[in-house]
Amino acid sequence: MRKCKIGIVGFGTVGSGIYKILTSELDSHPILKEIEISKIAVKDLNKKRDIELDNNLLTDDPFKLINDPSIDVIVEVMGGVDLAKDIILQSLKLGKSVVTANKAVIARYGEEIYRTASKEGVYILSEAAVCGGIPIIEPLKRSLKSNSIKKMVGIINGTTNFILSKMTNEKADYKETLKLAQSLGYAEFDPTADVEGHDTADKISILSELAFGGKIKREDIHSEGISKINLKDIEYANKLGFEIKLLALSERDQINNDSLALNIWVGPSLIPKSHPLATVKGVNNALLIEADPLGEIMLYGPGAGSGPTAASVVSDILNLHAASVKNNNSIDPLLSFYFWRNCHIIESSQINKKNYLRIICLDSPGVIGKIGDIFGKNNVSIESIVQLDASEDKAEIVVITHEVNNGDFERSKDEINSLNEVKIIASQLSCI
Ligand code: NAP
Ligand code: HSE
Repeated sequence: MRKCKIGIVGFGTVGSGIYKILTSELDSHPILKEIEISKIAVKDLNKKRDIELDNNLLTDDPFKLINDPSIDVIVEVMGGVDLAKDIILQSLKLGKSVVTANKAVIARYGEEIYRTASKEGVYILSEAAVCGGIPIIEPLKRSLKSNSIKKMVGIINGTTNFILSKMTNEKADYKETLKLAQSLGYAEFDPTADVEGHDTADKISILSELAFGGKIKREDIHSEGISKINLKDIEYANKLGFEIKLLALSERDQINNDSLALNIWVGPSLIPKSHPLATVKGVNNALLIEADPLGEIMLYGPGAGSGPTAASVVSDILNLHAASVKNNNSIDPLLSFYFWRNCHIIESSQINKKNYLRIICLDSPGVIGKIGDIFGKNNVSIESIVQLDASEDKAEIVVITHEVNNGDFERSKDEINSLNEVKIIASQLSCI
């Protein structure tokens, strides 16, 4: 069988993991031996690397790989947005299939990239872009295709789950734990994307497009991160029987004017300790998928890191190689992707959800009554309201609502904030 020659753009955490898989003597399928690395592009040719590489393999010009007619597949594991997008599109236009781990590019430019790949009769595969080592893109494209997806909810960022787990189990310091996640190769080059929820929003956008078949306007996804979570919220959540996790949720609603309405959001959330997602610790990710007629499944495993992410990239390369051999250059409709309907995201004020609110206020008579009145007047039903801490004249009140309209909840919050007795609304989280 003809070898599949690949050019790898990027030799950092993921790129070096790919090299290790393709050059090691793993006891794996013989098809792995048909993949040959032709060239690797890096930024800095003089950088000291853990892996010794033949200098002839390296270049600092990614376009050398793209323009090399002997290279079949471009593997983009460089990161960033603009240059990475150019590399991907240029490669597709030159008739090369592309494998990428880049969720930022796919979430923003997926439509143009999928369209270009289809037009050129090649593939763009991105298994590693979501949930690192967990096969999730391929199941949505192929194994789950006989179902109608109803809902997806999960933990899909490794860095933040690693940080929250350490804060919960060891009372670890947020900043120190973020540094540790960076040193372990979990975090993005700019970890703001992880901790502020942007990476999670990119990923749920990609998953929603694959699951529901329509383009998602990435900028319409409301997302919040974990940078404002402190040990107090974790302690209170624990006392009340919850874990705090950064969740992504995407759920189908109704079809309005030929467009499927979707409820999609990303935010730190309280999860009952008995919920399967509460058991997902460290760098692990998990996605619960509710589908008809399948029912509910949970995909679980390492969500970031060199080996797991590289394994996903290499499995895409193998799929491409097998498809090119089997299909004699005709496109496999389930391995490729195109939009087949319109979708839109429901405005944040229109969705319903459960909420957690921590309010710091004066410890004076009647405050809880006033807070309760405001919620009642705005049609917000309370599941529980407790005073958890009181020192000198200050009290901390924690409210958990039932599932309520977000607009009603936000209005109540503004009114509570303007009460004379309220010092600050210290935190607001979602609940499932
Ligand atoms: P990384 O460790 O920072 O590596 C980036 C690599 O790209 C480096 O080798 C760098 O070269 C190279 N590079 C940067 N700019 C370049 C340029 N202009 N031309 C050529 N090469 C260039 O990043 P990573 O963690 O491997 O992540 C790569 C991608 O995978 C990102 O899109 C990320 O979101 C995604 N991803 C990462 C993980 C993970 O766990 N790390 C998981 C899933 C997806 P030098 O070595 O010379 O600096
Ligand atoms: N920074 C990402 C994470 C890498 O922590 O999940 C995997 O996409």
